Amino acid sequence: SWANVPAGPPDPILGISEAFKADKNPRKINLGVGAYRDEHGKPYVLQTVKKAEEAIRDQIPDKEYLPITGLPEFTARAALLAYGADSDPLTRGAISVTQSISGTGALRIGGAFLARHYPHAKAIYLPTPTWGNHIPLFRDSGLEVRSYRYFDKENVSLDFEGLKSDLLSAPEGSVVLLHACAHNPTGIDPTPEQWAIISDVVKEKKLFPFFDMAYQGFASGDIARDAFAVRHFVAQGHQVALAQSFAKNMGLYGERTGAFSLTVADPEEKARVDSQLKIIIRPMYSNPPAHGARIASTILGDTALYSQWESEVKGMAERIITMREKIYSLLTHDLKTPGEWGHIKSQIGMFSFTGLKPDQTKAMAEKAHIYMTADGRISMAGLNAGNVQYFAESVDAVVRG
Ligand code: LMR
Repeated sequence: SWANVPAGPPDPILGISEAFKADKNPRKINLGVGAYRDEHGKPYVLQTVKKAEEAIRDQIPDKEYLPITGLPEFTARAALLAYGADSDPLTRGAISVTQSISGTGALRIGGAFLARHYPHAKAIYLPTPTWGNHIPLFRDSGLEVRSYRYFDKENVSLDFEGLKSDLLSAPEGSVVLLHACAHNPTGIDPTPEQWAIISDVVKEKKLFPFFDMAYQGFASGDIARDAFAVRHFVAQGHQVALAQSFAKNMGLYGERTGAFSLTVADPEEKARVDSQLKIIIRPMYSNPPAHGARIASTILGDTALYSQWESEVKGMAERIITMREKIYSLLTHDLKTPGEWGHIKSQIGMFSFTGLKPDQTKAMAEKAHIYMTADGRISMAGLNAGNVQYFAESVDAVVRG
């Protein structure tokens, strides 16, 4: 029996959605999970996704299994989106890629592949802080999880010196996890110049870079600009691992659409790596779901849909940026809330790391019915013209105690 199974804690991010659902107050706001909401606070299905679904329906696809590594058109187009048309490994047929159960699944396949086949250190260095799920995910994949400094609390900025010194003292061959853009949860990314230095450090210490790119397009509204770090590393001759998600940039959350890729030496090596990815995936979940991959593939493969999608991503990114400006001006100018709030405006991507402390986030939930993660991260997309004033007033109230 299960008499000795201890009760575990709720998930730090998805557990917030459960608490939110249970709250019956009509003013409640969910700023926990990073899921886009439109200006009325409603989940948003992209126009291009609707169009792609119509096109798919018209083709009457069957319900057959996909191959173990997924829909080939989808994975080819996902790799093209990330690496860019002029990428050297892409043009040489030296990228091994598989479809995945969204970004989490991609990271998990990558973790398992490294644990099994990476001939060097089995430690992976994660930034502090990082997406909460990274830690159990890599641990459960069989890697030893370590950390490198990332966030400077005092200055609400990147601790670049700390980052550099921690990577420089990591044992040669260690894996380093890098958020490609829109760092979760801090919303603070290295500048292109800092990325170039990180690339040099990674090269000097012979570290292995593993990029998590869950927000391509969401950081700046520009697909290519958000891929800068990945493309720069590849151009500098690094071999990389990459996890991609289409949850945010196509709003395909529940469709679980993503890809995992590795740049490899040549097509012969690719064939061997591909075979091992299949051996990892088959006993895990056999093969991935088809619908989301068909949607993403249709959008990425059609010139008109692709450019409409680019403007939809930009639209989502811009609505978030507008909300950042709105909160900043409400807190700073209207309410004169104690503290410095400039970081809310300068942070990038789906989240703002507000600086609210755990007791304050608790008070926000209990007193104002506003839910966010305990570390003070808010999903910006949960805010809109109808609730941003109430949000700012509630922040003001908890800050003043
Ligand atoms: C988040 O950080 O809120 C998202 O990445 C969703 C998730 O799965 O945690």
